[in-house]
Amino acid sequence: MFSKAAPVTSVIRDRDVDNPIAVRFEHVTKTYKLFRSDRHRLAHAITGKVKCDTINASDDLTFTVNRGESVALLGDNGAGKSTALKMITGVCFPTKGSIEVHGRVSALLELSAGFDMRLTGRENIRLRGQIWGLENDEIDAMEPEVIEFSELGKYIDQPMRTYSSGMRARLGFAVTSSMKPDILVVDEALAVGDRKFSLKCRRRVRSIMEEGHVTVLFVTHSLKMAEVFCEKGIVLEHGHAVFSGTIEEAMKFYAGDDEGVE
Ligand SMILES: Nc1ncnc2c1ncn2[C@@H]1O[C@H](COP(=O)(O)OP(=O)(O)OP(=O)(O)O)[C@@H](O)[C@H]1O
Ligand SMILES: [Mg+2]
Repeated sequence: MFSKAAPVTSVIRDRDVDNPIAVRFEHVTKTYKLFRSDRHRLAHAITGKVKCDTINASDDLTFTVNRGESVALLGDNGAGKSTALKMITGVCFPTKGSIEVHGRVSALLELSAGFDMRLTGRENIRLRGQIWGLENDEIDAMEPEVIEFSELGKYIDQPMRTYSSGMRARLGFAVTSSMKPDILVVDEALAVGDRKFSLKCRRRVRSIMEEGHVTVLFVTHSLKMAEVFCEKGIVLEHGHAVFSGTIEEAMKFYAGDDEGVE
């Protein structure tokens, strides 16, 4: 399963929810260039001659997530979890290897990304709905629920530039989580707002997962949450998958002998 790199680079994305595979990474490497300064970065872009260091955020990464599974990605800081999720959502592309994503992806990653700060919260909800491909009546049906969940009160009709970062994230969570995805990607996004709101977010994610059919990739540093939400676990180390199995096995592998790891 974790054999050496293949030469091809490809990304296949479709909405084929009959495909038993939801996400597949084969020998995926994502290399970032590290420059000493922005001046060096610019000079490199212009001349291609400036030297730089590189880092493989994903390194010959191979794993498969089957339709309907909920899978936790476990690993230390910098292990490459967020990078893998970003390649699933299409925010960034692999340098090498092949990726398949079958189904519509909704991501609870950077919750306030993609909003137009000049528009009101309500206008942004409609904009997101349109981008997601919903019809007007579907957006009408979704809007009150999103507004209620976000708990923004009358701020919903104020421009989003007047919101606090917590308020933006709350609206982001409310909109994204109501999009009914085929594949839901969650990266530590459940700690939105205060404790009460964060609990509400966890309940919402849980109910999406329990609806079945939804495939979930979940990144958290809380093994407790991984256990509650996921049935499978993949452990990443230095961008590479070093273990894949049931969540119990994966947690044991990741925690090693340290019984006290949270
Ligand atoms: N845009 C970037 N430019 C340069 N290096 C990057 C970039 N994005 C990620 N990296 C590097 O790639 C490695 C993997 O990062 P990533 O964010 O995927 O880790 P992570 O497992 O999500 O970590 P954490 O648990 O801290 O969120 C890190 O060493 C990080 O510094
Ligand atoms: Mg991360």
